[in-house]
Amino acid sequence: MGYGGRQNFKPSTAFLTPARAFLVCAITLVCLFYALATAFQGHISGTERSASSGTRLRLNGLDERGSGKERDVSALLQPTREHWHGPEDLDAAAVARADELNKTWMESPDNAAGSWWLEPGFHLSFMEDNPPYPFQRIKHVDGKDTGVMAIIAPFYDLDYYKAELARAFFWRLKANGHIIIIITSYQEFPGRIENPYDDRHTTPQDKMIHEAVDGYVHCFRDPTRFLPPGVPRILLSESDFHDPDRRDGGGSLVPFGLPKEYDLIYSNQGGDWNDYARNWTLAKASFKRLITELGIKVIIMGRDLTKEADHDLSPLISSGHIVSHGPSTPWKDFLRYIESSRVLIAPNVHDASPRVLVEALSLNVPILVNRHILGGWKYVNGQTGAFFDSEENVVQMFSEIRAKQDHAELRPRQWFRENWGKGKATLRLQAFLELAVGQDRLQAAQELVKAKVTYKR
Ligand SMILES: *[C@@H]1O[C@H](CO)[C@@H](O)[C@H](O)[C@H]1NC(C)=O
Ligand SMILES: *[C@@H]1O[C@H](CO)[C@@H](O)[C@H](O)[C@H]1NC(C)=O
Repeated sequence: MGYGGRQNFKPSTAFLTPARAFLVCAITLVCLFYALATAFQGHISGTERSASSGTRLRLNGLDERGSGKERDVSALLQPTREHWHGPEDLDAAAVARADELNKTWMESPDNAAGSWWLEPGFHLSFMEDNPPYPFQRIKHVDGKDTGVMAIIAPFYDLDYYKAELARAFFWRLKANGHIIIIITSYQEFPGRIENPYDDRHTTPQDKMIHEAVDGYVHCFRDPTRFLPPGVPRILLSESDFHDPDRRDGGGSLVPFGLPKEYDLIYSNQGGDWNDYARNWTLAKASFKRLITELGIKVIIMGRDLTKEADHDLSPLISSGHIVSHGPSTPWKDFLRYIESSRVLIAPNVHDASPRVLVEALSLNVPILVNRHILGGWKYVNGQTGAFFDSEENVVQMFSEIRAKQDHAELRPRQWFRENWGKGKATLRLQAFLELAVGQDRLQAAQELVKAKVTYKR
């Protein structure tokens, strides 16, 4: 008995000898192989060659939209300066455009009808698991994604895979057609981080990313020191997005009218990183001068002073001139301590735009700020407080603020409300993006997230 297969084959096709059957099978296999190879080849070779020799690859980004034109992936990934030819500083233009947006909204029937979810303005999202820090989504007032993504800190954090994931994510989003900006809220970032206790650094390969973003929302006096040339930018910080009229269970930025219990408040959570960023050295030197010469009462927030490595402040703590309040203070109580103080001091230098400055201003507490601070300097003027340079003039500048305060010559809260705050910041961010990338690209980025499609051919 032979096997059934062979028995069945034999009578039906007389010409199909075993040798011929083998040949047919072989030919079929070869054809199948080529068919499969062709199906995948375009995809594989297209991607590979585009990386090396610039083969045209269709992307689902905005550039092919409408025009139907295919784009060269290498062109898309060029530094932004290849594309932007306008002036870099868009501050005045953005303020003008923001006013227009506001005017249109104020006069619109949607506003009259109370359709708040249609209000213009781009908001910063809360920190989310995805995308993870240092990415931060930009949303509309109703929480819907705009397709605009912000990077708010350097990638490198001594975790190779985490950092590489972040870089890959950046290029993927860019190729997809998202709009990516950098918000400078992390010390010198995207410049070199000076803090010796920091493990986030700017690497040479990140420079390419810094040049390829669509814009900078920055805090610097001299942006050319930290930002690449040829990328549009605006002086706007995360701290500008605070709402000075916020009052809810989380905390109140509207003053309660609390009595003053402290002359000076300073915030520093402790640890080497914070001591550097909040200039603990200058803080201590300043407290010694201020207390010796003026006998003032200082409150330090966030530190347990019984655990100091040195005893620099011990006599002033024993005498009751310096008190502290621990690190786990809820935000709403933290704000009450600020309001209970006459002046807030920020000796910080390597700090991008301390939120605490805006909290103080909102609570109508004037600010005494190190003249050399990276960001937040824009909040300091004759109506809000003063700069100081070192312990040499801290007493003088503090006294000047106090004298003005006693004569009711300061108006920190009103000044902040008139110039910054959530309403203005959200409109300016939208205005800036409209100017920097255009409404078509904004629309296309928005459609990407609406469609919830990650890859289209
Ligand atoms: C602290 O402030 C002083 C005076 O402005 C400055 O010289 C020094 O570099 C600052 N130190 C740090 C760590 O920021
Ligand atoms: C928008 O315009 C109204 C009316 O002119 C004004 O009261 C309001 O402050 C403006 N809002 C912003 C955020 O500029």
